[in-house]
Amino acid sequence: MRSPAAPLGVFDSGLGGLTVVRALRDRLPHESIVYLGDNARVPYGTRSPETVIRYALGCARELESRGVKGLVVACNTVSSVALEVLRAELDLPVSGVILPGARAATSAAGDAPIGVLGTLGTISSGAYTRAVASFSSRSEVLGQAAPLLVALAEEGWTEGEVPRLVVRRYLSAFFGPEEIPGLPRASKVGCVVLGCTHFPLFRGLIERELYDLGGRGIPVVDSAVQTALDVEAFLDERGLGTPSRERGTLEVFVTDMPKSFESVASRFLGEAVPTVEQLDLRAG
Ligand code: DGL
Repeated sequence: MRSPAAPLGVFDSGLGGLTVVRALRDRLPHESIVYLGDNARVPYGTRSPETVIRYALGCARELESRGVKGLVVACNTVSSVALEVLRAELDLPVSGVILPGARAATSAAGDAPIGVLGTLGTISSGAYTRAVASFSSRSEVLGQAAPLLVALAEEGWTEGEVPRLVVRRYLSAFFGPEEIPGLPRASKVGCVVLGCTHFPLFRGLIERELYDLGGRGIPVVDSAVQTALDVEAFLDERGLGTPSRERGTLEVFVTDMPKSFESVASRFLGEAVPTVEQLDLRAG
């Protein structure tokens, strides 16, 4: 049994998981966190499930060896295909981002279908469809892969005409055809889940384009915030919440180019990023 004073381990394929760290630090400010971004191998979202599982095991074992008390898989793609293997292989509680997002989406959408924006890997895994089905027998899932948004976020290009057009093109999948030019289109979904760690950076843009396409606001669900609530619950249930009343520490490790990671990371994290260190994952 790990000590409640130990840090939480959080990992992602790169930068995007810092949006989950941000939500965790808002919700659980006393918890210390060790973050690992596997940016040498990003993106995970275009790779096969077997490769994603292998990469995920490497990241998880690295964090386990650093004495974390629980693991938060901040990557939707990993959460879609690797959670069961991680739980079987590691002697740690493991929490992902799909179930919390699906739960929130089910209540936001009512009986209407749920739109999910994610990577190719997440959408083709059907993980959101299965997760939503575990909460509701009524809600359907309409998935849309949005790989270009990952690249734009990595570039820090989250505002302006190019991301707006990309966002609009992807969101069009959630609307019926334009019956009368210039007039709102019928929405096929009751909410849209940001089913990728990078997409909270486009939240404002996504909300505006949804409004523009459909002529009314459509709720947007950020799985990062829901994940933080889930992590709080699992720490409470297991008596693993930190006894500290100090602000938790944050250590950040990457597998490549720490300086360039550092230069964009604060945008994801919402606070200054501590010194980023590079490490080598054992072959796997
Ligand atoms: N972290 C990934 C996810 O949430 C997005 C980036 C990638 O493709 O690796 O699905």
